[in-house]
Amino acid sequence: MTGSIQKTGYDEAYAAWRADPFGWWAERARALAWDRPPRTVFDPSLGPYGRWFPDGMLNTCHNALDRHVEAGRGGQAALIWDSPMTGRKQTLTYAELTGRVARVAGVLAALGVRRGDRVIIYMPMVPEAVIAMLACARLGAIHSVVFGGFAAAELAARIADAAPKAILSASCGLEPGRTVAYKPLLDAAIALSPHKPEACLILQRADLEAPMTPGRDHDWADAEANASPHACVPVAATDPLYILYTSGTTGRPKGIVRDTGGHAVALLNSMSMLYGVGAGDVFWAASDVGWVVGHSYIVYGPLLAGCTTIVYEGKPVGTPDAGAFWRVCDEHRVKALFTAPTALRAIKREDPDGALMRRYDLSRLEALFLAGERCDPDTILWASRLLGRPVIDHWWQTETGWAITGNFRGLGLFPVKPGSGGKPSPGFEVAVLDEASRPLPPGTIGDLALKLPLPPSCLPTLWNNDTGFREAYLDRHLGWYTTADAGMIDEEGYVSVMSRTDDIINVAGHRLSTGAMEEVLAAHPDVAECAVVGVHDALKGQVPLGLVVVKAGVAKDEATLERELVAMVRDRIGPVASFKSARIVPRLPKTRSGKVLQATIRKIADGQPYAVPPTIDDPASLEEISALIAPR
Ligand code: COA
Ligand code: AMP
Repeated sequence: MTGSIQKTGYDEAYAAWRADPFGWWAERARALAWDRPPRTVFDPSLGPYGRWFPDGMLNTCHNALDRHVEAGRGGQAALIWDSPMTGRKQTLTYAELTGRVARVAGVLAALGVRRGDRVIIYMPMVPEAVIAMLACARLGAIHSVVFGGFAAAELAARIADAAPKAILSASCGLEPGRTVAYKPLLDAAIALSPHKPEACLILQRADLEAPMTPGRDHDWADAEANASPHACVPVAATDPLYILYTSGTTGRPKGIVRDTGGHAVALLNSMSMLYGVGAGDVFWAASDVGWVVGHSYIVYGPLLAGCTTIVYEGKPVGTPDAGAFWRVCDEHRVKALFTAPTALRAIKREDPDGALMRRYDLSRLEALFLAGERCDPDTILWASRLLGRPVIDHWWQTETGWAITGNFRGLGLFPVKPGSGGKPSPGFEVAVLDEASRPLPPGTIGDLALKLPLPPSCLPTLWNNDTGFREAYLDRHLGWYTTADAGMIDEEGYVSVMSRTDDIINVAGHRLSTGAMEEVLAAHPDVAECAVVGVHDALKGQVPLGLVVVKAGVAKDEATLERELVAMVRDRIGPVASFKSARIVPRLPKTRSGKVLQATIRKIADGQPYAVPPTIDDPASLEEISALIAPR
């Protein structure tokens, strides 16, 4: 790896990237094993804004597994599964993980999966989820992982859009206090989707055996035991490695495409430049493989860098207590931990003085990284004080796949400013723009935008939807990618991300569309009109609140209607939406053109001061709603 270029300091590294962006990335690309090294670093004529390494060929699974075995690291732990939910732990070396992935790739190939075919993965946090992803990558098949907390209808929407040849799933997931039967959800989703997969590979877990559909479903353990290992299939750097659906501004999820070459280059670089880890180090991203953090930093980043990664099936609290994260760090010698601020807030609530933390030896833990939502300065300061280590907030999105801003252990840290996500990663030019796309002065809030071309790993487009990609991200500010985050940059170049500019809310680090929830509420026969806003929550950052206007003549009491609406959102979107409250209101405050005043409603619900918008249709509607939803 390129130790010398990592040690030059942040300002120098950023300047070096700016001076020669393509040369800078070409140098990083050399750290990978290519079947055909790229001669062209970037071609601006391809795709909506250009493509990275268009003539290169490689295989991500080879780079994440076989390459390390060939280099003599086969005996090193690649993956540690730690499951307080089952009381089990398991370590797979690089050689063992490579063997299992090669056999599961053999199973998929025997089921007819080829390069470019899509495969949906709907699994809990077990080693097989990672094996499934890498097996797809080995074949050049495109995986699309769906988070287990989504309901059948959301899974069906993804099956319909991705049109997978096969689906890999498990009999169940385990949540504290309940077993989530995945198979009935999967069967319901397949029934709902117009597209049907040819085959399903089902991991039967001891906790719950799932009934199989003859002819379609195959038992994972049997199939893997009887399969022949499959070699890595070289693919174009521009071939999609995966599609990850994320909430957009409508109820329809957006298929974020990740290409193969740019992704591997950027992720491998980020492991040393940002997180300060390399081969042999233990890196733990306490997330779920269903989210981008799981894709990038449970699976691909650590394995590309030859680290040991941890797959944790548990929670920050309650499995069994708020010392769980520190127990894992101690037991598995974690060097860098990455989690969501919500998880830290949950730990802080139960162990404010760090009594549980002090039970463990954290001497090997060098830094804590936070992302996924805005982190309140209190939580950062609390963690830094108790841990005595750098606590680093960094800002990114499913779309980028790695950090837009951060603080860079491999370049020498600059001082942390709590409340800021750090400074731009080399590769990203970040600006704050006004409505006319003019850069705003330091300290002024506006649209956070990224100069095109986006660096490697960022989405080249949306799945089967170049037009939707341009409309969602490129049309608002010409020459820039719109992040849909609002924020500011201070005099010293620190970026602070304050809020979204669209209808997305961030619940416990999970990105959810209020528009999608509104679609569900609107389908209730008693509801005439509705709005969903994200209101402040001390633990989860935000939680959704539904406001409904009922149809004339409906006499149902609020508690009954709320129960029905909560059940509908849980059934259509999933428990992850954390939709628990709905209120009946006489009308929704709107502008004269009929737009619901979401931002003002949110301020009222949070008990913040608000100005009566000049465009309001009837100011009395705000007073009415305030009397109903403002905190007392
Ligand atoms: N499969 C099925 N259901 C799931 C699920 C999964 N993989 N993950 C979550 N759920 C369910 C939960 O069981 C819960 O259901 P409930 O309403 O019946 O209780 C619901 O979805 C909401 O889950 P969650 O947001 O996790 O809230 P919680 O109250 O159960 O736990 C925390 C609170 C703080 C412990 C939890 O939110 C947490 O660990 N947050 C960190 C989030 C994180 O790491 N995000 C990573 C993004 S980078
Ligand atoms: P996701 O695509 O699920 O990773 O969510 C991305 C969104 O989460 C961003 O657009 C931000 O709104 C928010 N986000 C992620 N990281 C941060 C951070 N460090 N600070 C503030 N907001 C963040």
